Amino acid sequence: MEIPVIDLAPYLEFSLKFSDSGKEEFDPQLKCLCSEVSRTLRETGALLVKDPRCTAQDNDLFIDMMEKYFEMPDDFKRLQERPHLHYQVGVTPEGVEVPRSLVDEEIQEKLRAMPIEFQPSALTGPDPKWRFMSRVGPRPSNTRFKELNSEPVIPEGFPEWKDTMNSWGHKMISAIEAVAEMAAIGFGLQKAAFTSLMKQGPHLLAPTGSDLRRHGQVGTVFAGYHYDLNFLTIHGRSRFPGLNIWLRNGQKMEVKVPVGCLLIQTGKQIEWLTAGDCIAGMHEVVVTNRTTDAIKLALEQNRSLWRVSSTLFAHIASDAVLKPLGHFAESPLASKYPPMHAGEFVEQELAVINLKGSKGDL
Ligand SMILES: [Fe+2]
Repeated sequence: MEIPVIDLAPYLEFSLKFSDSGKEEFDPQLKCLCSEVSRTLRETGALLVKDPRCTAQDNDLFIDMMEKYFEMPDDFKRLQERPHLHYQVGVTPEGVEVPRSLVDEEIQEKLRAMPIEFQPSALTGPDPKWRFMSRVGPRPSNTRFKELNSEPVIPEGFPEWKDTMNSWGHKMISAIEAVAEMAAIGFGLQKAAFTSLMKQGPHLLAPTGSDLRRHGQVGTVFAGYHYDLNFLTIHGRSRFPGLNIWLRNGQKMEVKVPVGCLLIQTGKQIEWLTAGDCIAGMHEVVVTNRTTDAIKLALEQNRSLWRVSSTLFAHIASDAVLKPLGHFAESPLASKYPPMHAGEFVEQELAVINLKGSKGDL
């Protein structure tokens, strides 16, 4: 099974006209496209999109800067470490993030029941990847889930840091908003069913850096089998492949992201809002033969051997209530998804792995 690439351009053009005309009549072709978005998210937990507002060059600019950052000595990067703020801003060194499957017995049981060929790569300990966290977008001035009032961390010697982070972060959120509207229409909900809950959400730009010079052996797991606890996750194309996802039917699949495309993955919050019609996508990042081919090529071309992911975690606002929306409230599975503030849900998820903070990814 291939994940289709959805071009967002026709939907964005329509949205622009719609906001001028005040009409909300979707033509059948556009409705069909929205159904493809929701069906793909439901069946695969992932989606590939092309957004004319976000080009391969934008992704390159962001990855170039992050490669330069992750290549700095560890001592330099540790200046941006904020363990007392639970790593919610700044850098998280390798060996800190623990994959959920290492600590969650329910997941471990499910793994043992999987056919061998679909089982995730074996884990030995925490993920050997670095991560940098920056908040994106406005936060509510009045909230029962106050984030620590910490200043954004900006490393010295990177004058382009703030603009590049902001630009990439806002582009990613715009793409997610378009997909969230299309998905809502496809799921038979109001167009703004999801996006209205995302306003002032604790969105996080959280690129990762994995040193393939030290950890480039086939089978090395950079991010152990897990789901994301946020609403939707988006990334640009990585220069080194290695992402595996699990389809709804249990099959494991390697994801190939075409140049200029963005990858979207479903998190636990969309599962809640759809009463499990769309489930959180399980995934892992592991060094494969395709990764080692990319390493060889990078070596020949004298390019960086840091694998950067340009990840953004889009969240439902902390004070919004997570509960099955619209007709999903009538689903027989709705009782599995009781109403809960999104902020409370996030705290609960983080407590499972003893990592209190506002990470979107476990
Ligand atoms: Fe993830």
